[in-house]
Amino acid sequence: MPTLAFGTAIEMENFTWRDPTAMIQLIQYAHEKLGYTHFDTSDDYPGAQAIVRKALLGKNRDSYFIATKVPGLWNPIHAYNRTASFVNHALTELNVDYVDTLLLHQPWGNCEAIQEQWRALEHAYREHSLRAIGVSNFCRSALDCIMQTATVTPHLNQVNYHIAIDDSEDLKKYCDAYGIVLQAYGATLGSEMFLAHSCSNSSAVAMAEDARSRIMNIVEAVSVKYRCTPHQILLRWLIEKKIPAIMSSSNLQHLRDNMLVFNFNLTFEDIALLDSVQVWPTVQGCGLGRTTGWGSCV
Ligand SMILES: NC(=O)c1ccc[n+]([C@@H]2O[C@H](COP(=O)([O-])OP(=O)(O)OC[C@H]3O[C@@H](n4cnc5c(N)ncnc54)[C@H](OP(=O)(O)O)[C@@H]3O)[C@@H](O)[C@H]2O)c1
Repeated sequence: MPTLAFGTAIEMENFTWRDPTAMIQLIQYAHEKLGYTHFDTSDDYPGAQAIVRKALLGKNRDSYFIATKVPGLWNPIHAYNRTASFVNHALTELNVDYVDTLLLHQPWGNCEAIQEQWRALEHAYREHSLRAIGVSNFCRSALDCIMQTATVTPHLNQVNYHIAIDDSEDLKKYCDAYGIVLQAYGATLGSEMFLAHSCSNSSAVAMAEDARSRIMNIVEAVSVKYRCTPHQILLRWLIEKKIPAIMSSSNLQHLRDNMLVFNFNLTFEDIALLDSVQVWPTVQGCGLGRTTGWGSCV
């Protein structure tokens, strides 16, 4: 799997694309000129799979890697069939014979619902329409639930993960132990800011802004040393930890910068300094401080 993915959940307002044509051109530019080969999308990003399909139309299938996601379901009844039809829908929307990685987007629903959804992914994996299957936003208890009945261990868990994450449940260690690749979104601490703003609590917003500014002061100081940008340091830290990442940007210079993180290494001391930044503060009832992201189990 290519280490850095191009995230397609960008340039959306109220889950609607601002300019789909521009997005298609951006993906083509990233693929043809900047060397992006891994595109992360989802059935939950309305229209995104079709945009990816149009952008990659006519390109050699071996030249790109597609990861997509199917929505988590609350109800175990019909969960198997509904998930199977989401998988077929994704293949049709993307117009591909196979998807490189397909993830269950959120651990919604009870354990039985999760197990039924996983069974549908296992079936499609065995039928070769999915090259790898995984989950997203899964905490340990949701992974434990899958393991009870899984005949295929998830290949990947895509979660909110960055230098200030509170990984008090040792999710990374857990994934390593089972051979599950932990993949990061939210490298730039955006998820916490989004949650702070969406919980309509002004003290949470102030706390989030304060935490982000303290963390970014340290990151900026490190970035000066390497003559690069703070975003590159945030991304490089993940690479140093052997955590593949997804970044999205609609800015060509940023897309270029993000690809340059493979050209330098952080020193042991700087990694230790970044490891030591304060963890994200927990705000009860607001989602801040949660480990994995958008699931229901965190
Ligand atoms: N599984 C899930 O539940 C889940 C949840 C969220 C996201 N994702 C995936 O992860 C992708 C990334 O989402 P994210 O939330 O983690 O956002 P992100 O990529 O961490 O942040 C995007 C923001 O960072 C800015 N940015 C990117 N590179 C930059 C650079 N080099 N310098 C300065 N600014 C830079 C972008 O602004 P500019 O446009 O100005 O560059 C944009 O505002 C999504 O597109 C999606 O594919 C998955």
